Amino acid sequence: MDSSSLNGFLSMDTESFERLSTYVTREYGIKLPLAKKSMLESRLNKKVKSLGLNSYKEFLDFIFSDQGKQGELFNVIDLITTNKTDFFREAAHFHFLSKEFLARYTSENNRNNIKIWSAGCSSGEEPYTIIMTMEEYKKQHPEVTYSLIASDVSTRVIQTAYQGIYDIEKIEPVPLEMKRSYFLRSKANPKVVRVKPPFRKKIQFKRINFMDNHYNMMKADYDIIFCRNVLIYFDKATQERVINKFCSHLKPGGLLFLGHSESIIGMSLPLKQIRPTVYRYEG
Ligand SMILES: C[S@@+](CC[C@H](N)C(=O)[O-])C[C@H]1O[C@@H](n2cnc3c(N)ncnc32)[C@H](O)[C@@H]1O
Repeated sequence: MDSSSLNGFLSMDTESFERLSTYVTREYGIKLPLAKKSMLESRLNKKVKSLGLNSYKEFLDFIFSDQGKQGELFNVIDLITTNKTDFFREAAHFHFLSKEFLARYTSENNRNNIKIWSAGCSSGEEPYTIIMTMEEYKKQHPEVTYSLIASDVSTRVIQTAYQGIYDIEKIEPVPLEMKRSYFLRSKANPKVVRVKPPFRKKIQFKRINFMDNHYNMMKADYDIIFCRNVLIYFDKATQERVINKFCSHLKPGGLLFLGHSESIIGMSLPLKQIRPTVYRYEG
């Protein structure tokens, strides 16, 4: 028997685990060491059962079949990715952007139209935090305009981000004045808020897999890229390859923000660290 079922819980056999983890690492960059097996089981069990299948071997045979490749295989990545995020996560980045970087960057480079990319945007808290930061900045600097692209590999989280609907507890880190300016409370459910339409419309959403050879984006076109708490799931060589690709999309002097536990130490990259986890492209 390939998988065992105990009290309705399906356990994943080692061969299926290796088949799945090899696929996920090759296609999406995400490392899946054996220690992640129980996490995978807890995320995939319901899916396997909902397809009427009795083992992970049957499940993998199905998702890698011609029929599976048309749909279910695509959905598996939605279940495997870790999408934890928050409004104003690692708030020092947004403070640095609005209080230190933007005024200097726009005047030194004579650039008033700032292009930003939230890469690995998850359910939208990061790009909407960028919107709030830029809108607040614009109050003092009306000459500045900006555009924002937000991408993720998971279509499920992109849909959530596009909707811009959140439980009210989620916006706790947002300062009160900004809550009033950027969110509307649902009339039907007072525990739910939605980002106001003009701010939702400011974001262009895209599905991008960082493992793809091309991201279908213009080179040297971005002033700022946020790619935070994504690369931590990749091995070092993949991280370096992906960051090099981000660099090719940055304008000289542009910024790359990484997550608090991500580092480029030991990598050969045209980046200069200017703050903890903040890098300037020296191209
Ligand atoms: C933990 S969330 C980080 C969200 C946000 N950047 C933050 O710091 O709060 C990581 C996101 O990276 C996305 N991701 C993982 N692998 C990816 C890949 N190969 N290409 C693009 N996005 C990926 C996941 O779907 C997930 O939404």
